[in-house]
Amino acid sequence: MDKYNIEEKRINIIGAGNMSYAIVSGLINSNYKKDLITVCAPSTENRNNITKLFGIKNSSSNIYYSDQADVLILAVKPQSIVSVCHDLNKINLSKKIVISLLAGISTNILINLLKQNNINIIRVMPNIAIAVNYGIIAIYAISNDINSINFTKNLFSKMGIIYQLNNENDIDIFTVIVGSSPAYFLFFMEEMQKKIESMGVNQCDAYNIIINTINGIIHLSKLNNHNTFNKLRELISSKKGITELAISVFKKENISSIIANAIDVSMNRIKNLKNINTF
Ligand SMILES: NC(=O)c1ccc[n+]([C@@H]2O[C@H](COP(=O)([O-])OP(=O)(O)OC[C@H]3O[C@@H](n4cnc5c(N)ncnc54)[C@H](OP(=O)(O)O)[C@@H]3O)[C@@H](O)[C@H]2O)c1
Repeated sequence: MDKYNIEEKRINIIGAGNMSYAIVSGLINSNYKKDLITVCAPSTENRNNITKLFGIKNSSSNIYYSDQADVLILAVKPQSIVSVCHDLNKINLSKKIVISLLAGISTNILINLLKQNNINIIRVMPNIAIAVNYGIIAIYAISNDINSINFTKNLFSKMGIIYQLNNENDIDIFTVIVGSSPAYFLFFMEEMQKKIESMGVNQCDAYNIIINTINGIIHLSKLNNHNTFNKLRELISSKKGITELAISVFKKENISSIIANAIDVSMNRIKNLKNINTF
């Protein structure tokens, strides 16, 4: 049997938070066998929630299922990586694929922390929409192990659209524009909902109006022949009309610079994560 058959690898996910939930959901939606997936984290509550929802096994130990797994997916906050690697160094990682989802933690930092030779590390930066198989996923691998890279690409391609990167620095850009940006759009939607409700529309209608507006825009965008949104927006904001007036308020408040500042602040934070003390 093919050693890299996507159905045959045992995957242990370290961390039982938002991303772990999204990956387990995406894997199970794409018919990955649930008895090949395990999860581990310190607190019982998050682990048990994932077990209850998806019927996969869990452990409080980072070592127990990691030792048996072919693939380890690191889904903890960057601040926890030192302690996780300390645990993983108690097992032999040489035949495993180590997939890191961590923002800002470079392959070199991981190599320094996992003090073992020839570790197969692949960085993957997904967004939360992998939970419903509509994610965007950036992949960067320092190693030339084609089988591991292909396995990882196959695994994640079932959960969304893959961008394979040649330069590790680009993963920081994807962290912000792919990993974080769903929250920016959701924040705008939250604020829109508040305003719509304050105008007397009930919560349920306000929620559905926003979803359906976005759904309509997505469909229109797919028919748009231009690779920009400007022309489409101009169809709605006719000269001297009420929409143009609203857009002029956004412009006056300098929304462009607000968006750029927010992204720059995130990029700077990622750069600071690179200074994590690995010793
Ligand atoms: N959220 C996103 O949309 C997103 C997108 C792209 C990338 N990422 C990356 O994915 C990673 C996880 O993010 P998240 O949003 O899933 O975080 P999260 O919801 O805070 O989950 C972190 C998980 O790590 C567990 N953990 C903490 N210390 C641990 C340790 N020593 N050993 C094992 N598990 C430990 C926590 O355990 P408890 O359950 O016990 O608290 C928790 O289950 C981050 O590095 C982030 O950069 C996230």
